[in-house]
Amino acid sequence: MNDKNLSKAAHNLLIDCAGLTQSDSLLIVREQESLGWYKDDISEYILKSAKEIGINASLHEVGPPEISQSKDFFEKLNQFNCVIFFARLGDQNRFEEKGFTTKRVMSYVRDCNSLASIFGTLDYNLNILVKDEIDKLIQDSNKVKISCPLGTNLTGDIILDNSATKEVSVLRFPILVTKPVAARSFSGKVVLNNYLTSTGSRVYKPNFIKIKSEATILIENGKITDIQGNPEDVNNIYSHYNFVSQKFSIDKNAVHSWHPGIHPGTEDNNFYRHDPDKWSNTVFGQPKYLHFHTCGNYAPGEICWMIPNHTILIDAKPLWKNGKLMLKDFEQTKNLLKKYPSLRKVFGEN
Ligand SMILES: [Fe+2]
Repeated sequence: MNDKNLSKAAHNLLIDCAGLTQSDSLLIVREQESLGWYKDDISEYILKSAKEIGINASLHEVGPPEISQSKDFFEKLNQFNCVIFFARLGDQNRFEEKGFTTKRVMSYVRDCNSLASIFGTLDYNLNILVKDEIDKLIQDSNKVKISCPLGTNLTGDIILDNSATKEVSVLRFPILVTKPVAARSFSGKVVLNNYLTSTGSRVYKPNFIKIKSEATILIENGKITDIQGNPEDVNNIYSHYNFVSQKFSIDKNAVHSWHPGIHPGTEDNNFYRHDPDKWSNTVFGQPKYLHFHTCGNYAPGEICWMIPNHTILIDAKPLWKNGKLMLKDFEQTKNLLKKYPSLRKVFGEN
């Protein structure tokens, strides 16, 4: 592991993303390493780095997200200027205001290896610039068409203020996706052949189902109108939607919004078969994947669809082509690549 990269990434997280200064207090909430999501090396490294800067930093360990935290715990969080989560807990109900009075940062970087890679070292401010330009390209377009090699074919208009979707209330490190695009004007079909997974928002088990062949989901104006495919898949999908929607009293037919990944440093595919939920909640930041928020008329919903190798046309021009982000084909994003060699290094010449 490269020490220079680690220290660059720590600065990126603590200063550029979290905006911390010497006078701040910081609580690092980490999830037990034995749960398999986060390694202790990252929380320990960030704790040490924060202390070196002069930040008053301490550590608190939590269990899995299904264990609910006490009122005292949430009160404790508000006693710090900032809380950084190396824990799935930080992602729960992330689109809601949770009575936070201080800053929250959710880290999708889970160990020092990944921290030292471009996942942790891509300059946070440049990461934001890229995201903002992509958001603008989508927002300023009129017609959007989404397709995929399996036959997904969905079209819709960009709603004027895209107001059905709001950004998360927690800062994220790094920035992995565009702003969610409201799906209520979208109609057509989505074809899935992998899994339905959770969005990481609320906890339920089973948190995924496998789709054995291909399932076609018909959508009209952001509502599921029919599901077609082999009878076993169709039954499984319906019963999963019934289970999740009843558990949380939410709209089972809602297709609320979608967004593609924008970070080429995101890990891909290691957990595909043995832990589909972890797979989905890890790879979603890859430009190769587009995901939908469904089941619940809010972002991020509770059931996620993962669509690999998508093409997204904005006003007939591909912004993604077969899962590749086409930054070079749009003046605004091309200029960013021209101006910043580090972005060219991460995003390549596409
Ligand atoms: Fe999402």
